[in-house]
Amino acid sequence: MDIKKIRSKLKTSLFGTNIYYKESMDSTNNFAMRLAKEGAPEGTIVLTEFQASGKGRQNRPWYSGSGQNLLMSILLRPELEIEMVQKIALATATILIDALADFYKNRKIKISELEVKWPNDILLNGKKVGGILAESKLQNKTMEALIIGIGLNVNSSRKEFPAEIKDSAISLKDVLGVDTSIEDLCCSFLKRFEQNYTKYERTNYAGVVENWKKHCHQFGEHIIVKQPVMEETGVFHDVSNEGYLMYKTRAGKIKKLVAGFIMRKNKNAVND
Ligand code: BTN
Repeated sequence: MDIKKIRSKLKTSLFGTNIYYKESMDSTNNFAMRLAKEGAPEGTIVLTEFQASGKGRQNRPWYSGSGQNLLMSILLRPELEIEMVQKIALATATILIDALADFYKNRKIKISELEVKWPNDILLNGKKVGGILAESKLQNKTMEALIIGIGLNVNSSRKEFPAEIKDSAISLKDVLGVDTSIEDLCCSFLKRFEQNYTKYERTNYAGVVENWKKHCHQFGEHIIVKQPVMEETGVFHDVSNEGYLMYKTRAGKIKKLVAGFIMRKNKNAVND
């Protein structure tokens, strides 16, 4: 990755003013969290080619071959209550989708079939091309720092994915057949992220959920809801204004999922 190219092409005023890059590290989220604890400012970006302990949601590992994909963390200091983490993560997923659609449109490459899968997986042709891991540092109940980690399969090949994700993962190159400049893609995403994130901050995150819903095709899907103390089946019904999943139980009751995750019924985990 050519960090000089990113620094020279980046047209943002806050996000990316501070960029930390190392060829390899444990995890960009861990690195960014260490920087946050040392007082690094909002907008600090961490990038790498390879993570020795890349992390996914639900304590899963995040695999990525060296130098092939976007592995990035953004340091935010939203000073909001912890409940807002979910909304910011949902917002990031849709910003990434919109940024990708724009990026390829400008290059006259048609990229369709991008969607979100609850809560913030990015799917391309029904398979996972990217994911977001939000981790916060709290001071009382307020976020002192929020790390938004983004993993996007750009130039890797599906053939190289580990066996356990081979069938469910995909890269942009698998679909496009050509390499994409990770530097250019990163700059486009950060520009859009800065515009949208600052707008969301100004408007108290109005429109995040509506926008997310426009990118989601899971409504009506039969799901298994796994919560810390119970499990039940239901139907993916809606997302509340606060960003919680609403599901309809077999008895027809609408319930809110506050802590836990969902799996597609009779299929692989929805957030695999
Ligand atoms: C998921 O879908 O499970 C979330 C995946 C998030 C992966 C990214 S890669 C960059 C950042 N650093 C990490 O350790 N994880 C996130």
